[in-house]
Amino acid sequence: MESLLDLGRTHDCGSLRASDAGSEVVLFGWIHRHRELGGRIFISLRDRAGITQLSFGPDIDGAAFAGASALALESCVGVAGRVVHRGDNANRAMDTGEVEIEVTRLEVFSMAEPPPINVADDERLDAHENVRLRYRYLDLRRPVLQRNFILRSRLATLTRQTLAEEGFLELETPYMVKYTPGGARNFLVPSRLNPGRFYALAESPQIFKQLFMVAGFDRYFQITRCFRDEDLRNDRQPEFTQIDVEMSYATPERIFDAMEHLVTRLWRELLSVELPRPFPRMTWADAMARYGSDKPDLRFGLEFVEITDLVRGCGFQVFADAPHVKGICVPPEHAGSLSRARIDKLTELVKRRESGGAKGLAYAKIQADGAWQAGFAKLLDPATLAAIAERMGAVPGSLLFFVADDFHTTHAALNALRLELRDSLGLVPAGDRSWRFLWVTDFPLFERTDAGAWVSSHHPFTSPRRDHIALLDTDPAGVRAQAYDLVLNGNEIGGGSIRIHQSDVQAKIFQILGLDPAAIQQKFGFLLEAFRYGPPPHGGIAFGLDRIAMLMCGAQSLRDVIAFPKTQRGTDLMTNCPNEADEEQLAELFIQRRPLPGEAT
Ligand code: AMO
Repeated sequence: MESLLDLGRTHDCGSLRASDAGSEVVLFGWIHRHRELGGRIFISLRDRAGITQLSFGPDIDGAAFAGASALALESCVGVAGRVVHRGDNANRAMDTGEVEIEVTRLEVFSMAEPPPINVADDERLDAHENVRLRYRYLDLRRPVLQRNFILRSRLATLTRQTLAEEGFLELETPYMVKYTPGGARNFLVPSRLNPGRFYALAESPQIFKQLFMVAGFDRYFQITRCFRDEDLRNDRQPEFTQIDVEMSYATPERIFDAMEHLVTRLWRELLSVELPRPFPRMTWADAMARYGSDKPDLRFGLEFVEITDLVRGCGFQVFADAPHVKGICVPPEHAGSLSRARIDKLTELVKRRESGGAKGLAYAKIQADGAWQAGFAKLLDPATLAAIAERMGAVPGSLLFFVADDFHTTHAALNALRLELRDSLGLVPAGDRSWRFLWVTDFPLFERTDAGAWVSSHHPFTSPRRDHIALLDTDPAGVRAQAYDLVLNGNEIGGGSIRIHQSDVQAKIFQILGLDPAAIQQKFGFLLEAFRYGPPPHGGIAFGLDRIAMLMCGAQSLRDVIAFPKTQRGTDLMTNCPNEADEEQLAELFIQRRPLPGEAT
């Protein structure tokens, strides 16, 4: 008998409707659910498009019925049969719920062993993440992940289409690149043909896309993998994908315009959401002052209020001479649920090193008559208390929190507090689908390390604001960059800048960064050389495609939108990597392994 494969499938598992009743069809897919009822066997057949109910009975086809009773979950089968209307038994919750297929022929393509993951469980996801990663191909069969990856694919296709229509050329850059120590930590690749030498895996196409501008390609984009050997979190993977863009004769305005065009189209066509344009903007200084973060989540309030000037020299020593005293006002409708014990937890939070390491968290409750209930209230005069209450918009029932410390500590601690209050008070409801985009602009060009050295805030090719070039010599800390990030709901989804195209300015930046002429020549000589041959002014941006996909899907981790991701420890549990290289290969590369700490030599 001819295989059903030769007949070919007539429909996918998501498309049959009542109007198809009576037609003969062939479907392929996996056994999603299996149950026996009233002498019949009902099977849900699943593929990436959906689920269709199959009905097997001795009265329909004896052989198919016998075969169906032996089918294990997740086996792969083909069926042929007739579409019938389910009448009163229709399942309105399923797209295909009005019909089922009375199966006249069953062909088992492959039987499955009992799967270690309950694929049909889908949203409830009982399997431990390690099991999911170990059997990733089964995990990926789950309908919720299938939807994520279908959306991710459409995101990539639509990005290509939109940028191509706007005149961007899709060009590739190398992954194996020159190793230049000092930036993000690189993965190294030894060169067999050049023993003792290494390539780095590219952390981004940054320099190459700039050279494309020197080469005259004018508008470039690439959907490309980047590699960074950094500590991993839910929103960081060691290899991730960027939508990378560079434009000649760019100004920040032109870049914002082109990118908003792309982003609004993605949201319109993939999520049916019309985003208002232009996206709001905020300088880095404002974002820090108001939210203590360069990626503020604007879906809720709790803005910081500065009271340093009101408490300068007051009777409460903690406030009196701290460089920055700032507060957050929790309105009465939320303050009620903050018990003493919860406030103690918040105090512990702001004291932690990773949330700024503040010395403490002062708080005050405003009583019904407007009086302050706070240990320190008696140390401040009534006029000061009234002025603070007024500036913070406090009313009876409000709860006020304060941190008094240096700039970094005050802002980091209140940022951690603000985000914790968001989560614990449910200020952004679970499943919220609002989209608060924000361009953060005017980043500082440099940051100072603990050791007092200057490092680039973004990367060393970022241009200072034109009116700040003179400040390079006198006040590096005050120099603002033509750099911007696109932030969405508190996540950095993209970042870029206008680049330096003058070799003298570039040389000066390298010098401030502490690179001596020999080191500059050794690391970036080729770039400075290129800039001697008529580079156009240029700039660009890169979006984290994985992060955009994660937010669009409502996922909590990049692992739900990267098909074969790494664990927090950078391992792949399915293939068991990284693993050891064999001696022969190491010898060929002239590499000798040192003993690990504690390993016998
Ligand atoms: P940047 O380093 O800011 O800029 O990266 C751009 C965007 O990439 C995403 N991203 C990541 N996503 C997942 N895992 C990671 N480890 C990770 N690191 C970054 C973020 C980020 O906003 N060459 C410059 C861009 C430019 O100047 O044009 C660059 O790489 O969403």
